[in-house]
Amino acid sequence: MAKKSKEEFYVGIDIGSSKITTIVGVPEGENSLRVVGVGVSNTTGLKKGVVNEIEETVSGISESVEIAERMAGIAIGEAYINVNGPHIKSVNSRGVIAVGRADHEVTRDDVFRAEDASLAIQMPSNREILQYFPRTFTLDGQEDIKDPIGMNGIRLEVETHIITASEPAMRTVSKCISQAGIKENGKVLSALASAKAVLTKRQRELGSALIDIGASTTGICVFEEGEVFYSSVLPVGSSHITNDIAIGLRTSLDVAEKIKIKFGDANHKKVTKENIDLSEIDMKEEGVVSKKHVAEIIEARLFELFRMVQDELRKANRDGLLPAGAVLTGGGARLTNICDYAKEVLKIPVTIGIPEEVRGVTEKIKDPMYAGPIGLMMCAFEDNIHHFSVSRQLEEISKRVKKVFKIFLP
Ligand SMILES: Nc1ncnc2c1ncn2[C@@H]1O[C@H](COP(=O)(O)OP(=O)(O)OP(=O)(O)O)[C@@H](O)[C@H]1O
Ligand SMILES: [Mg+2]
Repeated sequence: MAKKSKEEFYVGIDIGSSKITTIVGVPEGENSLRVVGVGVSNTTGLKKGVVNEIEETVSGISESVEIAERMAGIAIGEAYINVNGPHIKSVNSRGVIAVGRADHEVTRDDVFRAEDASLAIQMPSNREILQYFPRTFTLDGQEDIKDPIGMNGIRLEVETHIITASEPAMRTVSKCISQAGIKENGKVLSALASAKAVLTKRQRELGSALIDIGASTTGICVFEEGEVFYSSVLPVGSSHITNDIAIGLRTSLDVAEKIKIKFGDANHKKVTKENIDLSEIDMKEEGVVSKKHVAEIIEARLFELFRMVQDELRKANRDGLLPAGAVLTGGGARLTNICDYAKEVLKIPVTIGIPEEVRGVTEKIKDPMYAGPIGLMMCAFEDNIHHFSVSRQLEEISKRVKKVFKIFLP
């Protein structure tokens, strides 16, 4: 089969706790992508979003890449990948500089210097900046400037949202990708990749939260005025619901997972009085369980999860205060009636985030579970349009920030 040249397609690889997904897209028109390859491997060596078995992870990446390659008829050489795990932390930091030019017109160089100044945060030597986002500029006291280039002033300030991650965890992910024969062009926080795929510009402007419920983590990113200003990752996900069902019903994890997917409901009030015959799910199981009981087990875990999410929104000072509400992604968001339950606890509007903007070979990508890998593919495309390389940029930041640390560290 004829191989397409590497400039023609963009690849996202999402390394998750339950599976590894590769998505390949080709440009369609000027600003959009059409998905031409999807590869999913259930082999993965991750615990709570962090690689803990390199060999398993490498073989899962290779398998998912090969499936996507076969579907798209291309050879994948490079990709954007995700970083996830409770080691993720975020901080908002200010940088201040004096405008350089004699006529006080702000230049691109001034903006870079202000950003650099804001990146000089104190953090332990085993942490690194994963991503950063200049949010707003202030020029001589005039606040909320989106782009100060060309304006005139003396004192330029920037507020930057900085996401940091464990350096060993990030290095291990890079190692796995490289051992699978893929060049990593950029790393993106999982929940931010999902946000890229599903949040509208209006939702980001008005104020919204993206909540990505994966198998063993829940990532949260809060947006306002178009940009992210709070990010964190909780060590709880949908596999905890499966574990609770297995313990509550004394079944195997496989049976519990099937019960969750086929009969699970986040709203026990909507569940009929029917029973589930366990032998229909697995011949080795016997007896019946009520659907209501399963829903109660699910609700108990969801209550804990959304209370934790609420605590995060409180830390961001936005508990109950997000006009555009919350958008749920990740496989955990597929649970029946999960929006009803989230609305009740969070007291804001809640919707499911489906990647609507990409068209593709298969309708199955219009699913909250694919928001992460689709978002990674979209990041690869956008950064290419803007001639921007996340990896190169982060390497430079890392050098600059380490230089600053030498001042603090013995
Ligand atoms: N229909 C469904 N109803 C309920 N849960 C579901 C459904 N489909 C998938 N899930 C759950 O979604 C989870 C997988 O979601 P996802 O692929 O987003 O996780 P992941 O990216 O592998 O994990 P993480 O992001 O935590 O590393 C599994 O726990 C699975 O049980
Ligand atoms: Mg995930």
